[in-house]
Amino acid sequence: MSTDPPGATVWITGLSGSGKSTVAAAVRDRLIGAGRPAYLLDGDVLRTGLCVDLGFDKESRTENVRRVGEVARMFADAGVVAVVSLISPYSSDRDRVRALHEAHGLTFVEVFVDTPVSSCEQRDPKGLYASARAGTLRGFTGIDDPYEPPTAPDVVLNPADGDPARMADRVVALLLPT
Ligand code: ADX
Repeated sequence: MSTDPPGATVWITGLSGSGKSTVAAAVRDRLIGAGRPAYLLDGDVLRTGLCVDLGFDKESRTENVRRVGEVARMFADAGVVAVVSLISPYSSDRDRVRALHEAHGLTFVEVFVDTPVSSCEQRDPKGLYASARAGTLRGFTGIDDPYEPPTAPDVVLNPADGDPARMADRVVALLLPT
């Protein structure tokens, strides 16, 4: 029997501009630093390749989450920690990915980056909230498209939790032996 540490998926959900990707990169770096293979699956990057054909209507977001969930499951199966950063606004989509992992005996950790929409909008790193408010971008999550917060996340992070490095520590603590 292999003594290698098992793979897993860390699924980071939250609004655009909530800080998901920064936390995700910090989680990846900490895991690698601790000798655990880890790979970042970031929504913005995946939408330039694997998911380039998908839009932002409900069906497309569901398909986006399904595809990324399947890829994450394969990484986890191979002994890698897949660190996923996706808005993934629908609870049922995220729950299906959790069920997929559980069906394969793989750990799934759901992390909710609970940054209020007002803060995300203030940050607006890509100017998308401004476009959504101006009506030039329709169906933007948190403005005129829904976001369903997780009801039972494994970790909740919000701005009061400190910098991304400290947030990452809380997530990584669930995966590394004490
Ligand atoms: S998801 O809803 O399908 O999970 P995903 O995380 O892949 O979304 O992509 C979100 C990113 O796409 C945002 O951070 C933003 O940069 C960009 N984006 C473009 N249009 C939209 C939109 N209508 N709603 C949300 N994000 C959008």
